[in-house]
Amino acid sequence: MTILELRPIAEHLLDAVRSLSADGVGVTRASYGAGETAAADFLREFAEKEGLQVANDRAGNIVFSLPGAGSQAGVWIGSHLDSVPQGGNYDGLAGVVAGLLCLLRQKRTGATPAQPLRVIGFRGEESAWFGKAYIGSGALFGKVTPEDLELKQRTTQQSLAECMTEAGADVAAIRAQEHLLDLSQVSSYLELHIEQGPVMVAKELPLAVVSGIRGNVRHNRVVCIGEAGHSGVVPRWLRRDAMFAVADLIIRLDDHWRVLLERGTDLVVTAGVVMTDPAEHSISRIPGRVTFSFEARSKSPDTLEAFYQLMQAECKAISRERQVRFEFDRRQRSDPAQMDPAVCAVLADACRARGTTFDVIPSGAGHDASLFANAGIPAGMLFIRNQNGSHNPDEAMEMDDFMLGVQVLDDAVEKLSGTAAQ
Ligand code: GLV
Ligand code: MN
Ligand code: MN
Repeated sequence: MTILELRPIAEHLLDAVRSLSADGVGVTRASYGAGETAAADFLREFAEKEGLQVANDRAGNIVFSLPGAGSQAGVWIGSHLDSVPQGGNYDGLAGVVAGLLCLLRQKRTGATPAQPLRVIGFRGEESAWFGKAYIGSGALFGKVTPEDLELKQRTTQQSLAECMTEAGADVAAIRAQEHLLDLSQVSSYLELHIEQGPVMVAKELPLAVVSGIRGNVRHNRVVCIGEAGHSGVVPRWLRRDAMFAVADLIIRLDDHWRVLLERGTDLVVTAGVVMTDPAEHSISRIPGRVTFSFEARSKSPDTLEAFYQLMQAECKAISRERQVRFEFDRRQRSDPAQMDPAVCAVLADACRARGTTFDVIPSGAGHDASLFANAGIPAGMLFIRNQNGSHNPDEAMEMDDFMLGVQVLDDAVEKLSGTAAQ
């Protein structure tokens, strides 16, 4: 059999997980929450019926392998099971299903890989829920701190510690920042993921090999505090308008960003949340308080730091000029990562051998692969073309593109692990 024959199973798994996490608009699989757990439980039941071995690690992630896979070094395929609120079905899930298909192909063909393949479905990759990314993978590397464990879930206000406990994670070990993954079990890490951007559609590329992953620096919550007042009576020179101050900041950041781009710097900047308080705001009131988020992403750690300092300097200048002040919550930072050239070459060779056009492109979005790469594990990523972007319910993917990617991934696993089909 070839892995392409597993397409009906792929369709079934993707559709079933979509249905169990449908929210009426898109899908919602909260990090360390109900939708994510339902997806993990469903995949566990499917895998056990197929005779695969399934276990949870100490961070609550789910790990699939062939029965009897020992503890020796092997290839890992991973991606995440959670989604943003009202998100798309393929961001994360496509990579876990792709890994499961590779494992199933090995099982059904009686393959005897020299190195075992393990497939991991991570929890808590999306920062949308707790304001921190890579929680499930980060915990494996001792990167979830006691402070992080106090972060609150955006809708339930439950702490991350409570939610991780409910998902069966060893919170005491995570709090102690123990390393929960034995690195000697990981010879390389692969991740298949939808592109999430428009480049591959525009270039008519079904697949791409990822060169590196942007890091980011963030504040989930910055509050600009001015003075509320009657909109009709306070002249401009006496106003302390928090909204005009935040708007001024955003425009200044946009100007700096444009100049940096002209110099060839890799940078994207976003204020994804900007709000006045609906309980008090009105058309006739000068906003005294505006809450917003700040995010900058770049492939370069130096650019992240420099842009962050620039933002701080502009906040100081605006505070003086407009008589406001800015209060920041804890700064969050994710490091950029480079994919391993040898693993990239394996993926590129597999694309060529299957006769598909592909390109080598950077990833603007964050991925669990970055943690493996930054821990010194040879890591590589394969992007699948997808339509309508991502982090929205319209996100789409052609199954032909997906199965081509699964085939290339399977070939790469074979090359990296020395799988021999019988
Ligand atoms: C992951 O989805 C990210 O925000 O990059
Ligand atoms: Mn995402
Ligand atoms: Mn993702």
